[in-house]
Amino acid sequence: MKRIPEPELMDTEEQARAYAAADFSEAHQSYVTLFNQTFPKRPARAAVLDLGCGPADVTLRFAKANPGYAFHAVDGSAAMLSFARQALQSQRALAKRVRLIEGYIPGAPIPRKKYDVILSSNFLHHLHDPMVLWRCVRRYAKTGTRVFVTDLFRPTHRAKAKALVRKYSGGEAPILKRDFYHSLLAAFTPSEIEDQLEEAGLEPLLVRVVSDRHLMIFGEIP
Ligand SMILES: C[S@@+](CC[C@H](N)C(=O)[O-])C[C@H]1O[C@@H](n2cnc3c(N)ncnc32)[C@H](O)[C@@H]1O
Repeated sequence: MKRIPEPELMDTEEQARAYAAADFSEAHQSYVTLFNQTFPKRPARAAVLDLGCGPADVTLRFAKANPGYAFHAVDGSAAMLSFARQALQSQRALAKRVRLIEGYIPGAPIPRKKYDVILSSNFLHHLHDPMVLWRCVRRYAKTGTRVFVTDLFRPTHRAKAKALVRKYSGGEAPILKRDFYHSLLAAFTPSEIEDQLEEAGLEPLLVRVVSDRHLMIFGEIP
C-alpha cells in the first residue's frame, strides 16, 4: 500500500484534546520498558531531547523511570503543548526536569548543541520528509548518544489498517479513530526506514518490529 502523508502538526484544539485524553498507557509504558531493555547500561544522568512530544505523556513516563534525566521536549503545536503544560502541572516533581519548547522541526529553538539521549515517539510518520528527523538526530547526537525512536509502521493493506483501528481504538472518540487510521496510512515500512537511515549515514541504528503496529529504531552513535 502506497504511503498517504497526513498533516504534520496536530494543531487543532479538538485533535489535541482527543489525543491527550486517549488512553495510550499500555503502548507508552511499553516504550519505557523497551528503552530499559535496549540500554541496560546507560548513564544515570543524561540530557534528553524528545522530538514531537505532543501532550508529553511519553516524556513524563520516561522522566519518572529515569530520575537523573533532564528533558527538552519539542513540538510545533501550541494546542498540544497546552495539554503538555497541564500534565506537567499535575506532576510537579517531574516537571522540574522537563522543559517544553514550541517550535517547528527543523528550525525549532533547541537549546543544547548535543544530547546524551534522543527520543521520539509517534513523530516520524507525521513528517512529509522523513529525513528531517534523521538530520535532526545527526545534528544533536554525539559519540555515545542513545537514540530511541518508536513509531507505527504502515500495514500492507487498508483492510489491515481498519482492523487495527477497530482493535485498538474501538471505544475512543471518532476524531481519534480517524487520526489513527490516517497515521497508519502515513507511516513508513521497516525497509523504507532502513533506506532513510542509510541515506542519513545512520546505519548503526537498527529497526525492529515490536508489535502488530509499532516498531522501534534504536542504537548508540559510534
Ligand atoms: C502523534 S503525536 C506524538 C506525540 C507524543 N510523542 C506521543 O507519542 O504521544 C505527533 C506530534 O508531532 C508534532 N509534529 C509533527 N510534525 C512536526 C514538526 N515538523 N515539528 C514539530 N512538531 C511536529 C505534532 O504536532 C504532534 O504533537
